[in-house]
Amino acid sequence: MNVVNLAGDLADAVPAGATAETVTEVQHYTDDLFRFRMTRPASFRFRSGEFVMIGLAIGEKPVFRAYSIASPSWDEELEFFSIKVPDGPLTQHLQKIKVGDKVLMKKKPTGTLVNDALITGKRLYMFSTGTGFAPFASLIRDPETYEKFDEVIVTHSCRFVAELAYSKETVAAAKEDPLIGEYAADRLRLFTSTTREPYETTGRITTLIENGELFRKLGVLPLDPAVDRAMICGSMAMLKDTKALLEAAGLTEGANNRPAEFVIERAFVG
Ligand code: A2P
Repeated sequence: MNVVNLAGDLADAVPAGATAETVTEVQHYTDDLFRFRMTRPASFRFRSGEFVMIGLAIGEKPVFRAYSIASPSWDEELEFFSIKVPDGPLTQHLQKIKVGDKVLMKKKPTGTLVNDALITGKRLYMFSTGTGFAPFASLIRDPETYEKFDEVIVTHSCRFVAELAYSKETVAAAKEDPLIGEYAADRLRLFTSTTREPYETTGRITTLIENGELFRKLGVLPLDPAVDRAMICGSMAMLKDTKALLEAAGLTEGANNRPAEFVIERAFVG
């Protein structure tokens, strides 16, 4: 029996507070990255940018990991963007899911990458590396983001060009979308860079902030706490280094109960 297709005995494996949802779409981008969509429970509410625990009934005990929801809060389905780790407790199985399979989800969303945790500003930067783009795939498709900020700049940096496919595709689709295109067409910008392959822009996002290349290429002034707000999502090292640069520019870290000028959250790792 396929470990991720437990339709028969799944009922026993769904823990309290969790739900079993049906996969509706799977798209693989590289050997390391894929995206999937699944049904959304009618009672499930979340704020764009939040994460949930998703899992699979593997063996005796379900295995859960934190995943940012990549779809916006108004979407009738849920979307996720994942890495594939060959020996990852969850992703070695999750990468094999097919349409019709069941994925478990705990119905308790949480997170700091939400519009409520930032004070209003003119421009919102969303800095991401790798799967750290996921919460921003949600936020750039939420009208509330554009009600709060005039300009939305999402940056995505990866090792290789092929890893940028999801962000490019999501931003292009948002600009064409009947609902969100009205806001995104003129006010959303995607800035991408690679670090281990030649590309139109190369270098870590931290380097590009520090040497000013990011701002020159975008045609905007350097970071200014009077107008700029930011969200950061990536590895621990990327969060630490990017946060230090924002603080050096005079921005203060906020939280749900204490909105300020920037917020951070670790991207899903294994
Ligand atoms: P690099 O190739 O120079 O390590 P990873 O897959 O390891 O999470 O990396 C995703 C992207 O994040 C890569 O482009 C990587 O660059 C970059 N990165 C890794 N560490 C940092 C950091 N401390 N600050 C900014 N970018 C980073």
